[in-house]
Amino acid sequence: MPSNIALIKYMGKTDHKQNAATNGSCSMTLDGFRSTVEIRANDNSASDNWEALETDYPLPVGVGNRFLSFFHKLKTNESLADQTFTIRSGNNFPSDCGLASSASSFAALTMAAECCFADLKDRSVRAPEELANISRTGSGSSCRSFFAPWCLWEGESITAMDSKMPALMDFVLVCGSKHKAVSSSEAHRRVATSPLMDSRMERISDRLARSRSAIAEGDYNTVCEVAWEDMWEMHSLFHTSQPPFFYFSPKTISVLQFVERTWKSGVFMPIATIDAGPNVHLLIPAEQVKEFRKLLATEFGESHKEGVPIRYLESGA
Ligand code: DP6
Repeated sequence: MPSNIALIKYMGKTDHKQNAATNGSCSMTLDGFRSTVEIRANDNSASDNWEALETDYPLPVGVGNRFLSFFHKLKTNESLADQTFTIRSGNNFPSDCGLASSASSFAALTMAAECCFADLKDRSVRAPEELANISRTGSGSSCRSFFAPWCLWEGESITAMDSKMPALMDFVLVCGSKHKAVSSSEAHRRVATSPLMDSRMERISDRLARSRSAIAEGDYNTVCEVAWEDMWEMHSLFHTSQPPFFYFSPKTISVLQFVERTWKSGVFMPIATIDAGPNVHLLIPAEQVKEFRKLLATEFGESHKEGVPIRYLESGA
C-alpha cells in the first residue's frame, strides 16, 4: 500500500483509542512510497512474530509494538486469536530518511490481514471504505492511503476526491532523520493544550472546503496557498502547546526560504508542506520534474552524491 501526504492536516483526536480525528483532512496518495506486508499462518509457534522483508531498504530494526498489537486486534475480530502468524514487512524507501511509514505500513497490514483472513474464512475481501475505517483505528493517517490520487477523510467517511489537478510528484527534502522526540500520537494529545486549538476548528472547516473545491477545479494556486496556511497552523499548534515542542531543523528553515524564493521567481510553484517532522514535501507537476530536479541540484547539490547537505527522495511521477 502507498503512503500519503496531507495538505489539510489531521491533528488532534476526539478519541485516542479509535483515532477519531477532531477535524477533516485531505491528502495526495504517494504511489511511489510503498509498504509491503506478507502474512503466513504458523504451524506451531506460541506467538505472532515479525521478520523484515528483503527489499532494497530492509527495515533494520523490529517494527513497533503498535504494529503487532494492531494485528492482534485484527485477528481477534475474526475469531482467530488462537492462530499465530508470521508477518513480514518492508518499505521501498529508506528508513533513515525521516519519512514516516506508519500510513503505508498500517494500510498494508490491514490489507494483507484482510486478504489472509478472507482466504482462511473463505469469504470475500471487504470494500475499501470499510477497510480504510479499520486501518484508521491502527493509525489515523493510514485510512487515506486506500484512495488515490486524492483522498478526503471526514469522520467515518473516507472517499476519493474529485480532482482536476495535474499529476504531481512529491520531492521529500530530508532535513533530519533522527528519531522524533515527540511522536505524532503524542502530538495529537498535546495540541489539545494549545490556545489556538478551539479557533482552529472554524478555520480548518473553511480551509478544507476551499481545498476541496480547488482540487476539484484544478485551481493549483489555491491548493498551494491553503496547504501553506495549514502547515503553518499545525506547527503553530506544536509551538504553543504545553509543554511546547517543535520539529524544524536549521535545514527545514533553509528549504522554506528556498520555497519562498522559488515562488517569487515565478518559474515553479511547489506546493509545500511538512508533517510532524523536519522534512519538507514539495509537490511539483509531473511535466516540470526534470527542470525542478536541476534547480534542486543547483541549490542543494546532487542528491545521490555523498555528503550533500540536503538530499531528497522522489515519489515517482
Ligand atoms: C502530522 O496518523 O501518524 O502526519 O493516528 O496516532 O497514528 P496516529 O497518528 P498519525 O498522524 C499523522 C499526523 C500528520 C498529519 C496528517 O497526516 O494528516
